[in-house]
Amino acid sequence: MKRTKVIDALKRTDFGSEITVKGWVRSKRGSKGIFFIALNDGSTIKNVQIVGEDQNFDEEVVKLITTGACLSVTGVLVESPAAGQSSEIQAREIEVLGPCDNTYPLQKKGASWEYLRTVAHMRPRTNTFGAILRIRHNMAMAIHTYFHEHGFYYFHTPLITASDCEGAGNMFQVTTKNLYDLKKDDEGKIDYSDDFFGEQVALTVSGQLEGELGATALGQIYTFGPTFRAENSNTPRHLAEFWMIEPEMAFYDKQDLMDLEEDFIKYCVRWALDNCRDDLEFLNKMVDKTLLERLEGVLKEDFVRLPYTEGIEILQEAIRQGKKFEFPCQWGDDLASEHERYLVEEHFKKPVIMTDYPKEIKAFYMKMNEDGRTMQGTDVLFPQIGEIIGGSVREESYEKLMAEIDRRGMETEKLQWYLDTRRWGSCPHAGFGLGFERLILFVTGMQNIRDVIPFPRTPKNCMF
Ligand code: 4AD
Ligand code: MG
Repeated sequence: MKRTKVIDALKRTDFGSEITVKGWVRSKRGSKGIFFIALNDGSTIKNVQIVGEDQNFDEEVVKLITTGACLSVTGVLVESPAAGQSSEIQAREIEVLGPCDNTYPLQKKGASWEYLRTVAHMRPRTNTFGAILRIRHNMAMAIHTYFHEHGFYYFHTPLITASDCEGAGNMFQVTTKNLYDLKKDDEGKIDYSDDFFGEQVALTVSGQLEGELGATALGQIYTFGPTFRAENSNTPRHLAEFWMIEPEMAFYDKQDLMDLEEDFIKYCVRWALDNCRDDLEFLNKMVDKTLLERLEGVLKEDFVRLPYTEGIEILQEAIRQGKKFEFPCQWGDDLASEHERYLVEEHFKKPVIMTDYPKEIKAFYMKMNEDGRTMQGTDVLFPQIGEIIGGSVREESYEKLMAEIDRRGMETEKLQWYLDTRRWGSCPHAGFGLGFERLILFVTGMQNIRDVIPFPRTPKNCMF
């Protein structure tokens, strides 16, 4: 018999019909010769209840129906007397497709997040991770749909590159060289001429530089792919491998850019509320009781647009009033997430787009303001998260960009192709990067970024 997914089975009202469902046992309980199985197949957070009488089944089969086992169940769809579910299945035939013994690591309820990370190959089978992963899929769909509907083209940028976009120097090298026998030149430097690409290359930290090439041809593009950063940040907000969405738009100024950032992120949050209701309600109950309220709150508010310099003044005033921060926040300091969260959660109580940062804490490609000290960055700061988007207007003047590159002592040899955009038909343009996992953190209410990606990569951890 054709299998019905649990999500569809729960909607059916043709009681009395025969039905087959397949899935994994979440729990089994029984009394007086009757057993009840909660079966889940991942199509929804909800389980379908299977009811059976011991006497109708082989004793050996009933014994194999344990938490985690995979079953195929055929029976009759009946209206459920139990509260909170409309239908259940009276089992006629049960086949144990995959038995599961008592070493199964998800036997007990209430396992800690830390423990579940050690069994990340199995944790998608828990209710919470099922919900998170369905939401993650939905956010990817929201992102593609948003850009497609707004006339952006999905532009594929390379993962292996010779350029360090953010200039932070925390790249993972890619090589086919024998690391036990490295060829070196007279000065003791590694000679890459016999390496696969004939030069030193690494995994990309951002698709932006190539994205700019796309925008200056197709008008508006976006990238959506994995990026890699070898920063030794053991924080709940950093991964060594994370997914980033980077739209880049020709002819956008700072105002257009901020409008897009706000509209885009609200669209994603609205999509979650419209399409992931069951999963969000589950998370709201089990993980974070203020989640739905916070998601709806973001939609209602206009984001505050706050120049960095004013942000520093607010933080300094807070310190004068007795607020204590771990890290300094003088003009010129890169804000720590405690500062960002103070502004968003305590001072304004709504998302903030912070603009016009000191040039010393931002990347070389940002457009310089008239003052010569600040750059047209536009980061979006969110409650619970801190920075969720990093964006900027790009410097389109060849001379100004070169002056900044020289000032920083950067090598231009490997950036010629990028500089060509400023030589041949340069145009004003702007773009931003949204950290996909930070968006998922916000939308799920989870606290640690390791718990919103199936298999996290962090310092000293590359399991699964
Ligand atoms: O602010 P970032 O470094 O900006 C860029 O990479 C620009 N090239 C983007 C652009 O303008 N096209 O990173 C962008 C976002 C951050 O705001 C944050 O959400 C996320 O990427 N992010 C990380 N997420 C998880 N783990 C990390 N290690 C991250 N580093 C940045
Ligand atoms: Mg940033």
